[in-house]
Amino acid sequence: MTTAAQDAIIDATAPLVAEHLDAITARFYPLMFERYPEVKAVFNQAHQADGGQPKALARGVLAYVGLRQQPEAVRQQMQSVISKHVSLGIQPEQYPIVGECLMAAIGDVLGDAVTAEIADAWGALYGDLAELLIAAEAERYQAFAGCPGGWQGLREFRIAHIQRECEVIRSFILAPCDGQPVADALPGQYIGLQLRIDGETVHRHYSLSGSPNGCDYRISVKQEPGGRVSNYLHQQMQVGDTLALLPPAGELTLDNSDRPVMLISGGVGQTPMLPLARQALSQGRRLCYVHAARDIHHHAFRSEVDALVREYPTLMTRICAYDHGDDGDITGRLEQSLLARLLPGADTQCYFVGPGPFMSAIDSHLAALGIAPEQRHYEHFGPSRPLHAA
Ligand SMILES: Cc1cc2nc3c(=O)[nH]c(=O)nc-3n(C[C@H](O)[C@H](O)[C@H](O)COP(=O)(O)OP(=O)(O)OC[C@H]3O[C@@H](n4cnc5c(N)ncnc54)[C@H](O)[C@@H]3O)c2cc1C
Ligand code: HEM
Repeated sequence: MTTAAQDAIIDATAPLVAEHLDAITARFYPLMFERYPEVKAVFNQAHQADGGQPKALARGVLAYVGLRQQPEAVRQQMQSVISKHVSLGIQPEQYPIVGECLMAAIGDVLGDAVTAEIADAWGALYGDLAELLIAAEAERYQAFAGCPGGWQGLREFRIAHIQRECEVIRSFILAPCDGQPVADALPGQYIGLQLRIDGETVHRHYSLSGSPNGCDYRISVKQEPGGRVSNYLHQQMQVGDTLALLPPAGELTLDNSDRPVMLISGGVGQTPMLPLARQALSQGRRLCYVHAARDIHHHAFRSEVDALVREYPTLMTRICAYDHGDDGDITGRLEQSLLARLLPGADTQCYFVGPGPFMSAIDSHLAALGIAPEQRHYEHFGPSRPLHAA
């Protein structure tokens, strides 16, 4: 626990650390992978290469510094970090590794400016945050292990079925090798997947695109050009092959109300929308389902969504927009005027997932239409980042 004197030091030096935080986190990861190569496997190296993860860590640390005297705000702020960690199986014994390397990176970047007192104060701050995350993650691990069909750590699953959804997306039905039930995830959540590729362990997150059914999970994966895991799944993995799953997690879950719902997705961002749609409809909520795809060949889950419309004709409308061609309901971008026409009401809860620029545009349109921040829910298929430039 930081002392009052340490808190004063942290407040006084926070602007200096903030100014250099991007450099510190950029230094931190290579240093950690060099000193502790065993932790490298849990990190997606593409998120290192594009700087997304170092920046997300920097923002997480700064948010904690600003909010640390408000425990409830900290808990809220850290939920997405906790989810990411839980679905990667992060363990308490890994925290000292991160702490040591973060402090070493601070020393490397700030040099003599870091006195022993400053180092102690920031070390204590890291200790407080680590303690909070470790406790919250332990709680989630225990809760999931304790529910019917839950488990601790890695659980082996077998590919029971593979389904082509469009030119670039395939679904994989994953059934547990032990033949036992699987715990229900909340609609909208994702799962952590661990694979061995060419003798190396790799981890990725995938949204669960199927509704909870107690016996298997469905993920739907877009083949990314040059992507390691997505290409391996598409090209190498077959029915009967096995992989390991970590617990499901994630905050893109349906709000607890009876308000209308609007789901807006771009490309493979449709995956969490499918279980969210079914959940909202089964609760009798009015739903508008908007999906944007490049063209008809890149439009996945068309028949599945149409079946939902047939099942809930009075509750559900759906619109698809294609960048090209006139096969869709609309050609071109999802403009604000279109969203204004489609919004079921000012009290609508809106959920959107897609490429970064798509989400920024949708967020701006919804804000301009008077949809409050707490009605705008989204998730990045990569490290979290702000939707709009500061
Ligand atoms: C919460 C969440 C949910 C997700 N849900 C889904 C989902 O439902 N469906 C889905 O398809 N995806 C989903 N994703 C994304 C998924 O986790 C993977 O990021 C995605 O499949 C790409 O992984 P990959 O291994 O194929 O590509 P990666 O190997 O991670 O590469 C991604 C891109 O970076 C490039 N790249 C890789 N390494 C480097 C380098 N060193 N230098 C420069 N460029 C590089 C590659 O060429 C490629 O274009 C989700 C992600 C999150 C965080
Ligand atoms: C106090 C300590 C820690 C803080 C503040 C922290 C913070 C973060 C943040 C902000 C993210 C990004 C979350 C998002 O994108 O939504 C993240 C992701 C992640 N964290 Fe941590 N973390 C800590 C400790 C650890 C430890 C001990 C490990 C284990 C080695 C770890 C491994 C990871 C991994 C693997 C990811 C995902 C990276 C990726 O996408 O490649 N973290 N963490």
